[in-house]
Amino acid sequence: MKTADKPLTRALKGKALKHPPIWLMRQAGRYLPEYREVRARAGSFLDLCYNPALATEVTLQPIRRFGFDAAILFSDILVVADALGQSVAFEEGRGPVLEPLQTGKDLAKLKLDRFHDRLAPVYETLDRIKAALPAETALIGFAGAPWTVASYMIEGGSSRDFAKVKGWMHGQITEFAALIDLLVEATSQYLIRQVEAGAEVLQLFDSWAGALSHPDMRQFSLAPLRKIVANVRAKHPNVPIILFPRAVGAGYLDFAVEKFAQGLSLDPGVPLEWARDHLQSQTCLQGNLDPQLLVIGGRSMNAGVARILHRLGKGPFIFNLGHGIVPETPPEHVAELVKLVREGAG
Ligand code: CP3
Repeated sequence: MKTADKPLTRALKGKALKHPPIWLMRQAGRYLPEYREVRARAGSFLDLCYNPALATEVTLQPIRRFGFDAAILFSDILVVADALGQSVAFEEGRGPVLEPLQTGKDLAKLKLDRFHDRLAPVYETLDRIKAALPAETALIGFAGAPWTVASYMIEGGSSRDFAKVKGWMHGQITEFAALIDLLVEATSQYLIRQVEAGAEVLQLFDSWAGALSHPDMRQFSLAPLRKIVANVRAKHPNVPIILFPRAVGAGYLDFAVEKFAQGLSLDPGVPLEWARDHLQSQTCLQGNLDPQLLVIGGRSMNAGVARILHRLGKGPFIFNLGHGIVPETPPEHVAELVKLVREGAG
């Protein structure tokens, strides 16, 4: 099947389908026993990301089990920091740990020269996934947005208050702008190469966009994303792009009215009537089931799915969670969810 005819790409072109296509953020992961098995023999998490055979295998696992409409490349947003030369590790129970950038001088350590060499296994993984996917399944490539990736690079890991990165943003303005510019350039090149390796749709994750004031969000989340989309478009005018500026509230309107991407992924807090009335006429929406409802299952999940389908199911829409699937999710609930979305819930 041609890329343009796949359910996911049709929705992103603005078509309302009888049943929305479905895939789930973090659909490959620890909630699946077959993932845990591969993960245990891969070595470190980054070793898994850079092993084309194993990364292909874990990408395909949820497709085999659930028949989702899209596969998402198995990787992580922090491979960009790693490929720029920063030290990145994933520690059991702690999440990502990076050697933090402390002053503007540390920027000199980041380089684009070896970037694509380090990421070559990711491009090979895309090529292998593409060859193995069912005809109707779309292949999604992705990257983190500059603000979210910069926050990990400066904080050295996950953060509650973003004190250090906001310190740079408002105190070392020139250095912070230089880091964002570098990430715009690296991420644009990375996504262009992903398309050339087989990605048919791209998603940009700005997981921490909601931590910014509205003006800072426009300057450091929206504007860099706009530049990346323009850079990718200059090379590949037709590739659909989904943005996920998580938890920006009414700020979603800024992304919708600018119409520079084809899809907007909604977090669970977005009011659905508002999204339908103010966002869906501008763009394809994606989301937004609370990942905990997928853990709970049963009636609560059923009601949550019905609520979303009733409000957004008529417009251009892709069913997804409002954030990544959690490790506690019973795989049977995922199978049930796919059935509900395909057959129409309640
Ligand atoms: O969706 C998919 O199936 C593709 C794979 C994917 C991963 N990370 C694999 C992963 C994607 C799209 C990501 C994106 C990502 N990574 C984001 C943006 C989306 C979001 O969740 O907000 C962020 C912020 C990260 C950074 C990151 N990676 C964190 C904070 C963690 C630790 C938390 C955790 O769940 O353990 C990771 C590790 C990670 N990335 C895992 C997976 C499957 C778990 C590591 C393991 O299996 O040992």
